[in-house]
Amino acid sequence: MTTDLTDYVRSYLTPAAGYTPGASRLTDRPVIRLDWNESPWPLSPTAEEVLMNFRRGNRYPDYSQAPLRKALGEYVGFDPSRIVAGAGLDDVFMTLAMLLIEPGDEVVIAEPTFGIYRSLFTLHGAVIRNVPLGPAPEFALDVNGMLDAVSDKTKLVILCNPNNPTGHLFPREAIEQIVDGVSCPVAIDEAYAEFSGIDHLDLAESRNNVIVLRTLSKFAGLAGFRVGYGIFPEVLVPYLQRVTPAFANITTLSAEIAIASLHDLDYLKANRDRIVTERMRVIVALDALPDIQPFPSATNFVLFRLPVADSTSVLDALARHDIFIRRYGTPGWRLEDCLRVSIGTTAENDAFLAALSAVLQEQSALEEVTT
Ligand SMILES: Cc1ncc(COP(=O)(O)O)c(C=O)c1O
Repeated sequence: MTTDLTDYVRSYLTPAAGYTPGASRLTDRPVIRLDWNESPWPLSPTAEEVLMNFRRGNRYPDYSQAPLRKALGEYVGFDPSRIVAGAGLDDVFMTLAMLLIEPGDEVVIAEPTFGIYRSLFTLHGAVIRNVPLGPAPEFALDVNGMLDAVSDKTKLVILCNPNNPTGHLFPREAIEQIVDGVSCPVAIDEAYAEFSGIDHLDLAESRNNVIVLRTLSKFAGLAGFRVGYGIFPEVLVPYLQRVTPAFANITTLSAEIAIASLHDLDYLKANRDRIVTERMRVIVALDALPDIQPFPSATNFVLFRLPVADSTSVLDALARHDIFIRRYGTPGWRLEDCLRVSIGTTAENDAFLAALSAVLQEQSALEEVTT
């Protein structure tokens, strides 16, 4: 008997790949990888020591990741009981979806923003209500539009602050207006907060509907170890204990590396400062290139506009120089003429800037020949 196995798949699941990741892959061939918003810096000394001496892979991790949650709680100044960890922030979003979403529930977001929100919450049957950001360079949050989009079906509003891929911060008043104007949970994704010098941790204390989400992938340089976390309202804690996966999906090694890295906070902060300094340098250098418009950034990446309708040819030409950055062709996002570059080491940033300048010159010379 032949059956169509796809009939057994959850009815609201679509086969399309929901999220398009960066193009570069880790291979033996060294390339300049500025398309994943990673940190270019190695582990801190204490974390490196943990890695070299790790021997306990035969034992399960702490069941509730208590030591890790304690270290994260100390870092952000919250009781560990309010901290939920996961294998990266993506995994904490999965826990959030398990906690809140039933098919048909609505999630309000403001695109262009982090692509995982749409792909992950629709995976749980949520309907996405998108309230687009205004045009560049402000990318303004439509506060009234967001408030209007919230209905009795809304289970969650997500604000990415600073926002990926635009790199900008929303004004605090706009965030407060949304938080105070709705009764549903509002998740503030602060994956890049450490690069901005601004956070909204106090709202997780003063408002009962705020969830602040963080990751060690960016400023702490632990993308490969996969450690993210959220600070949740106290009343949700017993339900979170029900939906958080066993061991929070975090390996013993990753938890120990995370704790050791937080021990070396001065090292992490010095790396963060180097990235912020380089970010300013890259923005100035981009601005000096003819007709390139870099947008302000409070993150470890910069979005910039090019003097072309479609930035694909520049992206592809950079890839031929083994330099990988990111393009967003998503319909409605109006970023077809933009590219996003992560901030790397000084040498990587220099290589990117030199290659971009060469590619733009080649392309304008070509244009002159063909016109
Ligand atoms: C805004 C935002 N949130 C969350 C994440 C996911 O981070 P993690 O590596 O912790 O899963 C990213 C990663 O790029 C991001 O840009």
